[in-house]
Amino acid sequence: MKRLEHLLAPIKVRNMVIANRVVMPPMGTFLGNDDGTVSEASLAYLKRRVMGGAGLIVQEITAIHPDGAASPAQLGIYEDRFMPGLRQVTKTVHELGSKIIVQLHHAGRESQYQLQKGTAVAPSAIPSMVFKQAPREMTEDDIRDIITAFGDGAVRAREAGYDGVELHAAHGYLLAQFLSVHANQRQDQYGGDIVRRARFIIEVLEEVRRRVGDDYPISIRLSVDEWIKGGYTPEDMQLVVPVLVKHGCDMISASFGTHGSPAGITQAPIEYEQGFNVGLARKMKEVVDVPVVGVGRFTDPFFADECIARGDADLIAFGRQHLADPDFLKNAREGHPEDTIECLACNQGCFERLLIENGTIRCAINPETGQELIYPAGPAETSRKVWVIGGGPGGLTAAYEAARLGHKVILFEKESEVGGQVRYAAMAPNKDPYGKWINGLTKRAEKLGVKINTGTEVTGDMIRQEQPEAVILATGGKQVPLEIDGRNLSHVTDAYEILAGRTAPGKHILIVGGGLVGMETADYLAARGCNDITLAEQLRRSPVLKLTSHGYMLHSRLKKAGCKMLFNARVTGIDKDAVTVIIDDQEQILAPVDQVVIATGTRSNAELENVLKEMAIDYKIVGDAVEVRRIVEATDEGAKAAWAL
Ligand SMILES: Cc1cc2nc3c(=O)[nH]c(=O)nc-3n(C[C@H](O)[C@H](O)[C@H](O)COP(=O)(O)O)c2cc1C
Repeated sequence: MKRLEHLLAPIKVRNMVIANRVVMPPMGTFLGNDDGTVSEASLAYLKRRVMGGAGLIVQEITAIHPDGAASPAQLGIYEDRFMPGLRQVTKTVHELGSKIIVQLHHAGRESQYQLQKGTAVAPSAIPSMVFKQAPREMTEDDIRDIITAFGDGAVRAREAGYDGVELHAAHGYLLAQFLSVHANQRQDQYGGDIVRRARFIIEVLEEVRRRVGDDYPISIRLSVDEWIKGGYTPEDMQLVVPVLVKHGCDMISASFGTHGSPAGITQAPIEYEQGFNVGLARKMKEVVDVPVVGVGRFTDPFFADECIARGDADLIAFGRQHLADPDFLKNAREGHPEDTIECLACNQGCFERLLIENGTIRCAINPETGQELIYPAGPAETSRKVWVIGGGPGGLTAAYEAARLGHKVILFEKESEVGGQVRYAAMAPNKDPYGKWINGLTKRAEKLGVKINTGTEVTGDMIRQEQPEAVILATGGKQVPLEIDGRNLSHVTDAYEILAGRTAPGKHILIVGGGLVGMETADYLAARGCNDITLAEQLRRSPVLKLTSHGYMLHSRLKKAGCKMLFNARVTGIDKDAVTVIIDDQEQILAPVDQVVIATGTRSNAELENVLKEMAIDYKIVGDAVEVRRIVEATDEGAKAAWAL
């Protein structure tokens, strides 16, 4: 049997023939110009994704009304000034042989920008799930205006060359707000039971169909399960979806959850398996005959092919995989899927950067993403002899990028293996893909000629003797020394010793430090059956935000496992079987404690900088060696140091 035959089979959606079943789902990028028009950066980003060969691209949330925009820079389609850029988008995608539809969007109450301006509207004046502020309840005039605005947007989409439109009725935005009792308490014809609450969507759909004509494809994206206590269910959606199809909907995109659901489930974290959500697409297929798109943590085209073969979905959307490695489909088709870099679902560079940091889209493991305009294709004008000192994510990325640009690279790592702290992080529950990523990056770097010297600590003398042309210093962090009485007792160990499996833990465990390392060590121990774990954190609240998907999962797991978390808690002494802690200025003795684990973090280590300065060697410092941060900062700085060589 031909491999990928189901995934690569064409499919027709009304009059649109899509060459294969791979969809790039809509992903907001905030790469547009400040006025919401398409920018050079948006086009370059999109082009790079389309080169991977997905049959259908769904353009990110595109505002149909100025009061529905999530930010002023969100792409818009509500005025003619947007048209030149939108035409360039469709031209770019069509030249590469894919189809593109645009996601028509109104944020309703889920826009901090509109809430702050006082222009946010929603079915009822119930506060936003995410931003907690209340919108204004829509009048019937507002409803008619917005219905018209969706129609206008669809007409512009058609004029700009899009092959169809998608109505964004998922994730808690305006159309989804009408569906939800958590947002819609209206007493008029737009409120009531689930079918009555779907009336607004139906009227939008009817208007769009009336304005674009019979031959133009209309997709609707739904959160098939609202995934909020008391919210609507897949069974409710099984009642709504046939009505939508009857009114002219040609495709259902079966997403999951809202931005108010726990754990940022819409962009599910690493704890969720590939395709975990595809059962919801199947539920839609049970009640309608139009094509249904499945989504959720897909990274492997072969697995997607199986899902289509067994009838779970007709098309499969690969979201974040398109950010981590847009060539995943190409690699699979060409017979070298092992070259694909798998998405880690970390959300650091993508969703969380957009949501928490107001940034533009990036990817923690693909520095090209969102930076296509400055990403050098190479080779560099002159090939230089480069030393990369330190083999964590920043150093490895720097080495790979430098070698890709044609430099001669030697990487030194003082430990016996590369990977830095990620090696240990990968030991925590669910995180083995991190180890796989490090292994893959190492292999790719070696394939490009990077010489890796593990077990080699670079000294000032080595630099003086060998005089490398350029150095990228990626020496990471050094453990913060813990100066407490009892630190050297035999039952006191380091978190990394535990995570590496080199120290068998005791029964009554106190972890000093409740940051990510401390919490993941607790998670590791709880997964191995330890049921008396306490974390003592000096800060007043957890530095691991529940707002992040992984943070949320970690906090919930530790709570479920009965781990105790003490805040504003300073460990002042360690005894054979007890620990002294000052909590809120009160001294307490914790006992029994037969295992103390130190997870007090690291501090930047760039000790070799003085020698580099003294020798006037061209150097850059990257990652934790500058300041202790996350993978996304390390890889970005590592790549940029290599690009600047
Ligand atoms: C950075 C980012 C932006 C997103 N923006 C949108 C959007 O504009 N519209 C939408 O319907 N879904 C959006 N999503 C959800 C994705 O389309 C997709 O459903 C989700 O990422 C799950 O798929 P994946 O696990 O393959 O990434 C976004 C996701 C991410 C990561």
